[in-house]
Amino acid sequence: MKSISLFFTFFCLVFSLNAAESSSSDSMPHGFISGDASNGSTLVESCAACHGSDGNSISSDWPKLAGQNQRYLYEQLQYFRDGERNNALMMAVIPYLNTLKDEELLDMAAFYESNETSRGQAKNDEELLSLGTSLYRFGNMKEGIPACTACHSVDGQGNYLAGFPSVAGQQVGYLTTTLKAYRSKERNAGEQSLVMQSIAQNLTDNDIDALANYMHGLYK
Ligand code: HEC
Ligand code: HEC
Repeated sequence: MKSISLFFTFFCLVFSLNAAESSSSDSMPHGFISGDASNGSTLVESCAACHGSDGNSISSDWPKLAGQNQRYLYEQLQYFRDGERNNALMMAVIPYLNTLKDEELLDMAAFYESNETSRGQAKNDEELLSLGTSLYRFGNMKEGIPACTACHSVDGQGNYLAGFPSVAGQQVGYLTTTLKAYRSKERNAGEQSLVMQSIAQNLTDNDIDALANYMHGLYK
């Protein structure tokens, strides 16, 4: 029951935000001020080894940050800094993140958002592609899987105003790990993670492989 009402809240949020978007397309949501990308570019030196100098990582296991919306990035950086989201590799930069002010985290997020995501190429496996396409676009009512397009959009760009992350072109290894981490509830930072936890409960390993392959190939 809890997860159903959570869904409902989210769908209402998405639809009201979509409405706001069409009436005033370039204004930011209430209380959210954009960071300073050029200041951000001076703060990300220690991130390049894994995320690339522009935010396009080269390893399948490390997430791309380029083109990701800054509201989402800003929230995740706070979760890492405050120890709510944990990862062995990100541990290395926690002491550094702790020396930064919130505005500086937002500036880093704005820098990554201002860069373009590099494209990915989905594996051309007919069965995997057809499962990925249908789950992403339509979900599977019988299995309790909602369409991912409702929140991440048809082309995978997410929802900027709501801070729903872009998944387009994201690394396959990372997408797979993070969907499994939602499923095991290991990824549990912030209220929004509960939405993905409840969705991931109903995904099999094969569904996750198919969705990761499909999302990797999406672009604007
Ligand atoms: C040693 C490698 C490494 C370094 C250095 C590193 N990261 Fe990461 N980062 C990762 C990995 C791996 C993940 C995925 C974590 C997970 O699976 O939860 C990640 C995740 C993230 C995320 C969340 C992405 C998402 O889509 O949710 C952000 C934001 C981020 N890193 C920002 C930074 C910033 C800013 C720095 C520099 C201060 C940095 N990282 C340095 C490896 C690294
Ligand atoms: C009701 C809205 C909603 C729906 C439907 C939804 N998502 Fe999400 N998704 C979110 C939100 C919100 C987050 C950020 C959660 C957080 O902060 O941990 C997210 C995060 C993610 C992430 C992590 C992105 C990153 O960079 O770490 C992936 C991957 C993802 N969703 C895939 C999917 C897939 C696949 C589906 C369809 C089976 C789906 N989502 C359906 C709202 C949704």
